[in-house]
Amino acid sequence: MSINISIVKDYDEMSRRAARIIADAIRNKPNLVLGLATGSTPVGCYQELIRMHKEEGLDFSRVITFNLDEYIRLPPTHPQSYRYFMDENLFRHVNIKIENTYVPDGLSADLQRTCKEFEELIKRAGGIDLQLLGIGANGHIAFNEPGSSFDFRTMVVNLSERTIKDNARFFKSIEEVPRQALSMGMGTIMEVRKIILLASGVGKAEAAAKSVEGPITTDVPASILQRHPNCIFILDEEAASKLVRKAR
Ligand code: F6R
Repeated sequence: MSINISIVKDYDEMSRRAARIIADAIRNKPNLVLGLATGSTPVGCYQELIRMHKEEGLDFSRVITFNLDEYIRLPPTHPQSYRYFMDENLFRHVNIKIENTYVPDGLSADLQRTCKEFEELIKRAGGIDLQLLGIGANGHIAFNEPGSSFDFRTMVVNLSERTIKDNARFFKSIEEVPRQALSMGMGTIMEVRKIILLASGVGKAEAAAKSVEGPITTDVPASILQRHPNCIFILDEEAASKLVRKAR
């Protein structure tokens, strides 16, 4: 088992390639269970999916989505909450039923129960067919920071200093960045049927190279994806620049 690598020219090509795979999956299975990510990486892919919906009639009416993560104690109306991000960047532009879109509830009074229920919902939907992932500069996946167990399920996590700093660009000040989040665990992610990980830019090059070619270690959470039977990394040239073995 190894990760399939697709190296493309730039961010736009990465986005189009990912959107095409997702669109094909929806056409093959209109009630696809689709795992989604937030952050800057998937925005272009979501824009392309919106274009396909508007111009080519890509139909989201039966699609069910699960997001990887959500900050704790940011209301859905906060522009940096992941629910807000998804509504703005995808959901309100396509014909998805909002009740079929699941983002972990970071406002829940009983976060442990919310985590369990999220796992239950995924199970009841029949499991995630296709999961879109980004990757952190430190190799994190969702909010599984270095050192997280590969067996973790959806859980409450403390964000690392590195991630707090990386995410500060989205907030007015670093103090505003939440210190905790709800996140699917690597155990949850490894059960999805197919994974597409996107990475763009030289800032992701080291994380991509370590994940694909380095040892499988909790120090680089994404390295566990080497054990996934159906995982593709779509990297632009900069993100692929530290790979020793280039495109296959
Ligand atoms: C977001 C998520 C994160 C991001 C990662 C990369 O839902 O799970 O792991 O994918 O932090 O973020 P960007 O794309 O902003 O570089």
